[in-house]
Amino acid sequence: MLQKAYKLTKPLLFRLNPERVHGAVDLLMRMASPFIRDAQIYNRDSFVLFDRKFYSRVGVAAGFDKFAHAPEYLYKLGFGFVESGSLTPKPQKGNPRPRLVRIPKNEVLINKMGFNNPGIIQGWKNLRKRLTQMNPAYQTALSLGKGKETPLEKAADDYVFCLDILRGDIMSEHLSYIAINVSSPNTPHLRLLQNAKAIRTLVEKCVSVSPRPIVVKFSPDFTSLKLYKESLDAALEGGAGGVIVTNTTTNHSLIPLPERLQNFGGGLSGKPLASIGRMYLKETLKTTRGKIPVISSGGVFSPEEARRRIEMGADLVQVYTGFIFYGPTFAKDVN
Ligand SMILES: Cc1cc2nc3c(=O)[nH]c(=O)nc-3n(C[C@H](O)[C@H](O)[C@H](O)COP(=O)(O)O)c2cc1C
Repeated sequence: MLQKAYKLTKPLLFRLNPERVHGAVDLLMRMASPFIRDAQIYNRDSFVLFDRKFYSRVGVAAGFDKFAHAPEYLYKLGFGFVESGSLTPKPQKGNPRPRLVRIPKNEVLINKMGFNNPGIIQGWKNLRKRLTQMNPAYQTALSLGKGKETPLEKAADDYVFCLDILRGDIMSEHLSYIAINVSSPNTPHLRLLQNAKAIRTLVEKCVSVSPRPIVVKFSPDFTSLKLYKESLDAALEGGAGGVIVTNTTTNHSLIPLPERLQNFGGGLSGKPLASIGRMYLKETLKTTRGKIPVISSGGVFSPEEARRRIEMGADLVQVYTGFIFYGPTFAKDVN
């Protein structure tokens, strides 16, 4: 029924402003949540990751739930986990609009949101409230980012500031993991934190104050896999408890870019990212060898692609753009 409604309204929705549609649909879905037929993931077989019981390997990637409400409808649609955020120390407005575009022909989104978020204090307040009410079968993770104005040398302080707030609250024990996002292309210089020396120090600092495992989210734009491998090794030496590969790409030559978007900038996500996503997943698994969880993100454009990543060895799979283009039964179809 929901999928039918989605198919019927998709042509109209896709003609409207993507950011407005996202906000409106999210609000509608939250209101409709009590009436949504529950996929009942809690009746499925569970498996343990990060010392927590998960009931589905497919989750919602960071950036979908920027205000950290971890809405129940996502779990009712069959997602096993939601990664809320990314949150920064202070609230941020993000970049001026338009900052999100769809390219339906290529099943692509390009965004330069720039971490619009309510900040860790309000964001954690929102999420904390949800965690107190939530079915324990529903897993929630939180993603942290660096503030736009924070100079790179002080970046670690931003993550530690957020982690200190979480550490001071017993409810943070309910988070499955905490992601440090060092790979968004829309915060100037953020990706420099990925270089081997920087990431090792950053992860060490975060691990030393974090109440939950620190998971590092990498970009798909390393100039070589060798450089990626060095950064991955460094993150693991620093004590990373998991890896997410990958964030969006700045390589817009993956598609014939419409004239109007030539100077748009931002990160590209969706179907054309699939082969790169698989490549980074394969490379990561060679190093991690089952010792820590690996989460595959980037170009999971269909339930079949999600299954493919799981069969390759991903412990969890995250989706954002594919969910927008495929519709509400995405997770149920994977499950
Ligand atoms: C509009 C938008 C906002 C995003 N915001 C964040 C964010 O705040 N933090 C983050 O780690 N990733 C963010 N991402 C990246 C996604 O989490 C995901 O890694 C990326 O889109 C690739 O997956 P996909 O091809 O399934 O969309 C965002 C993506 C989009 C499209």
